Amino acid sequence: MTKGLAGIVAGETKISATTGGRLTFAGYTIEQLNAMDLSFEAIVYLLWHLRLPSESDLNRFCQILSEQMFLPEHYVRILTEMIRPGEQHPMSLLRSGMSLLGTLMNDQAQHPIAIMAKVPLVIGTIIRLQNGLEPLQAKPELSYPANLYYLSTGKVPDAETEEVFTQTLILHVDHEFNASTFTARVIASTNSDYFSSLTGAIGALKGPLHGGANERVYQMLQTIVENQLDPEKFVANELSEGRKVMGFGHRVYKDGDPREKILKKYAKSLAIKTHQEVWFDTAETVEKYMWAEKHIIPNVDFYSATIYHCMGFAGRDFTLLFAASRSAGWLAHIAEQYSQHTLIRPNSKYVGPYHADIAGDVVNS
Ligand code: SDX
Repeated sequence: MTKGLAGIVAGETKISATTGGRLTFAGYTIEQLNAMDLSFEAIVYLLWHLRLPSESDLNRFCQILSEQMFLPEHYVRILTEMIRPGEQHPMSLLRSGMSLLGTLMNDQAQHPIAIMAKVPLVIGTIIRLQNGLEPLQAKPELSYPANLYYLSTGKVPDAETEEVFTQTLILHVDHEFNASTFTARVIASTNSDYFSSLTGAIGALKGPLHGGANERVYQMLQTIVENQLDPEKFVANELSEGRKVMGFGHRVYKDGDPREKILKKYAKSLAIKTHQEVWFDTAETVEKYMWAEKHIIPNVDFYSATIYHCMGFAGRDFTLLFAASRSAGWLAHIAEQYSQHTLIRPNSKYVGPYHADIAGDVVNS
């Protein structure tokens, strides 16, 4: 047994790996895939089928996604009734929203693609209703990332923004047995339905030690930038008061998160394009300080905060974007867990007192 199952191999997968500090999707490194400049849809196809799609495979995949980009009747009305702008956390709304979707679809997911197609609509509806705006319909001609951007912001992204968003979503799409994915697999291992597994995964991702960190990275950078604070003094104070600096550290990567190197490049280019260099410069100063003082590396949530901010998303919605991407990874793992036909049920080490002779005599306590 180890603290938090650190280092414990809890099962087998063919979907992704972090062996040797290199992140691979079905055997391809993220650097290889980034250089191939593939679409988000092509990467999802790779995770689901464990091979890259042919042109006709991809066209068919995208066509079905587009055909499935609609929400059940009454969905928006029910969500509208439930949302109180500014009061509820967006990830709580996504947890309810995904659960509601499953209930309205009688938990009968025709296929993971039918669920994946609805995720940008659910997220866009939550973001728009939170801002007191009418939800939008998907545009069939847009890519998955471009539709997610449009459904959330009401704007069609320009080519550079779509490219950066696509690559950023790809870098978030899967990561072996992270906490939310493992949660999804545990639920799926009982032969429960896709929506129950996804709802559990959303709950896990919401946590600040996991996907919820990106929103807190934003809050940290916003505090420093908007109050013109000294980044090093701010971080030193956080550390001296025993608080974790969000966006740093990782259970698996100790010498660097391979995703962060690519994200840092996009964060810099977007900050320059949107004339918000101060956000990138502040982030880089924090990164250098954390390495010099604690030898702790930034993780996937660190530079993604600057990217999403420069794209115009609100900090409270950043983890929704993580979920938008990771949902495709969760769906891959749920299907793989179903195919393994094995209940995940570990032992536990009892450390409490006994009030009985465990040999069988019951003490009248
Ligand atoms: C994600 O697992 C995945 O794959 C997750 C993810 C994915 O793609 O699914 O990569 C996405 O969740 C990234 C992580 C986002 N979370 C944060 O940024 C929160 C801040 N990070 C820390 O809470 C921590 O680093 C964890 C939770 C991410 C990992 O914790 P570990 O593996 O239990 O501990 P560690 O080896 O990283 O740290 C050892 C020590 C810590 O000891 P404890 O206090 O935890 O007992 O190093 C120090 C600390 O003393 N330390 C930090 C720190 N991270 C580690 N000190 C200050 N700030 C930090 N961020």
